[in-house]
Amino acid sequence: MAHIIIVGNYQELSNKAADIFLQQLKSNPKSVFGLPTGETPLELYNILANAYRKYGYDFSQISTFNLDEYVGVKATHKQSYHFFMYKNLFNHINIKKVNIHIPDGCASDLNRHCLAYENLIQTHPIDLQILGIGRNGHIGFNEPGSPADSITRVVNLSAQTIKDNARFFNSKKDVPQQAITMGIKTIMSAKKIILLASGQNKAEAVYSMIESKISEQCPASLLRNHPNVYIITDNSAASLLHKNKISKYLVSS
Ligand code: GLP
Repeated sequence: MAHIIIVGNYQELSNKAADIFLQQLKSNPKSVFGLPTGETPLELYNILANAYRKYGYDFSQISTFNLDEYVGVKATHKQSYHFFMYKNLFNHINIKKVNIHIPDGCASDLNRHCLAYENLIQTHPIDLQILGIGRNGHIGFNEPGSPADSITRVVNLSAQTIKDNARFFNSKKDVPQQAITMGIKTIMSAKKIILLASGQNKAEAVYSMIESKISEQCPASLLRNHPNVYIITDNSAASLLHKNKISKYLVSS
């Protein structure tokens, strides 16, 4: 069952996510985390970096698995998810490099690499998976229509996602058309999931995820079948929700 937490703004959303993350870390210093990229988790990562620097939290025994990576974009490219993760989180905490896992979008045999990544997750089950949400309801890079039983694989990005990503690349031809992503089934195998949604431009996706029928057309809606999922949204992202209809899922922050 989904638990929905609506907070006032982006900062509160990030604080809440950080509380859940740090609680998990305290309860098991060897926790395995699933991590997203995007603008949404930036403040969460900032708080985690502070938790290490200022408050002595120890990340040395955790392992991480990133959700996705662009195909054909080198780890050293500023727009790769690799680069993003080191810049915004890994360079600022004491995680061990051997425990960091990010799909390699330049692997020589992509399908084999995806299978190996999937197998590694199955042998290191994710304790806490953090997710953002795309404007079309995608999670990771599981675009609308992604099968509920999908695992880590190469996918074609939707026109909307390619358009949304264009701002990060110098020219149109550089914008990746494909990515490696954990599948829906991979994500659903996590013991606990938190999905973060902030801002007005996510309001329609949040509405579909929570109030439309559960369907592969809105991949995030499939999370409602997970026994331990928390959806944390700020007021703007929650602005299209009918609070009276979803009151039984609302949890006070
Ligand atoms: C990309 C990522 C997703 C992320 C989404 C939203 O598509 N693959 O994992 O959730 O962007 O990004 P943002 O947080 O910048 O809105």
